Amino acid sequence: MHFKTIIEPFRIKAVEPIRHTTEAERQAALAAAGYNLFLLKAEDVLIDLLTDSGTGAMSSRQWAGMMMGDESYAGATSFYRFEAAVRNITALKHIIPTHQGRAAERILFGSLLRPGDIVPNNTHFDTTRANVEYRQAVALDIPIAEGREPALLHPFKGNMDLAALEKVLAENPGRVPLVMITITNNSGGGQPVSMANIRAASQICHQHGVPFFLDACRFAENAWFIRQREDGYGDKTPLAIAQEMFSYADGCTMSAKKDGMANIGGFLALNNDELAQRCKNMLILTEGFPTYGGLAGYDLEAIAVGIHEALDEDYLRYRIRSVAYLGDIMIENEVPMMRPPGGHAIYLDAKAMLPHIPPAQYPAWALANALYLAGGIRGVEIGSIMFGHHPDGSETPAGMELVRLAFPRRTYTQSHVDYLAEVILHVNQHKEAIPGYRIVWQAPVLRHFTVRMEPLAATGSQT
Ligand code: F0G
Repeated sequence: MHFKTIIEPFRIKAVEPIRHTTEAERQAALAAAGYNLFLLKAEDVLIDLLTDSGTGAMSSRQWAGMMMGDESYAGATSFYRFEAAVRNITALKHIIPTHQGRAAERILFGSLLRPGDIVPNNTHFDTTRANVEYRQAVALDIPIAEGREPALLHPFKGNMDLAALEKVLAENPGRVPLVMITITNNSGGGQPVSMANIRAASQICHQHGVPFFLDACRFAENAWFIRQREDGYGDKTPLAIAQEMFSYADGCTMSAKKDGMANIGGFLALNNDELAQRCKNMLILTEGFPTYGGLAGYDLEAIAVGIHEALDEDYLRYRIRSVAYLGDIMIENEVPMMRPPGGHAIYLDAKAMLPHIPPAQYPAWALANALYLAGGIRGVEIGSIMFGHHPDGSETPAGMELVRLAFPRRTYTQSHVDYLAEVILHVNQHKEAIPGYRIVWQAPVLRHFTVRMEPLAATGSQT
């Protein structure tokens, strides 16, 4: 018998209430938050899709593992369990725990980059870019052209442009200390990178004597897409696919808050002994001793168990399907979105959906707020508020105006997703009434976290 329904491969042991609010309450809460979803109290949100980072549910095995946490300052048993679990997947020599992904980035780039260096990536995540730029180096995004077109279909839209990689390496000898590929490509719509692309990028780097790193946050989701979409991988296990991906890498940075299935944690892993030593020295300075790296022993246990649970086939089938399920409803109803659906999130295309709101009135911000007001849903703008403001004070509209709805792992069920779909379709039906916004106050950098906004008249025609 083959049943077509893909169910959540878990049952629920502990529940956490979420709270309904009235539309009037949401209006008041949003106004008090300066029309910025980051400034809401979480208790005023019904379904929180702000991020998939550290917001997932842990398993009973992870909680049991946490009771085994060894809190010794040095040489804790928990570290060795964590190290073995990570090494089984990555086969990398030095495994250095950090309190989250951006700490691994800071330590790696702080140990490796000099002013004027160039770091190519398919697309840098914003903290990765910020950590490269903090070293006065250049964060260069070189995704394939298809990756920049929301509506265009391609199985591996996260791929790196290999011709561009070859060119930057040939033209800048000695100025590229490493190349990174982000799997899946979060800032490019949660799109996967093919094994062929990872392999070829690694070969090109090695021909030029440059180390090749993975930003591995969502490595398990990427492995599942390879299994589904790439010839020759259909009968391999996600673990075997992940092992092959890492076999091409000289190192990786990882936020264990994603496919580590933990609420906090991360690591830096690499083969080069001398670089590892420098990184460990830096780690001791700011994170902690190399066998805990800013984490409690019980956090290391949670990751040791979680990182293998992320590779479970039933879990990955449900995970990728639950995101695609929402995507399918959007496509059926012609709601514009980044296609195909990503691994951890749906990205609604506000530029296409709200043509009456010009980029200078922040259509993606407007759509994110409309979803909250209509149904208590919190997504995040990835558009001109996030990317339109530059260090020299100038403004240019972002290339895309997206609202990311990121799915925390193992947290919401299909009925939550059905509700979500209903709210989005309702908002889409009444989209002409959505107003544009203007900025009332902003910080000079990373303004999206704290900006205060104001809605314009509902026609969107005034500035
Ligand atoms: N790299 C990628 C691709 C990420 O998505 C993130 C975090 C990081 C690095 C940094 O890891 O948060 O543990 O320091 N992404 C989260 C998000 C915050 O919402 O997409 P971190």
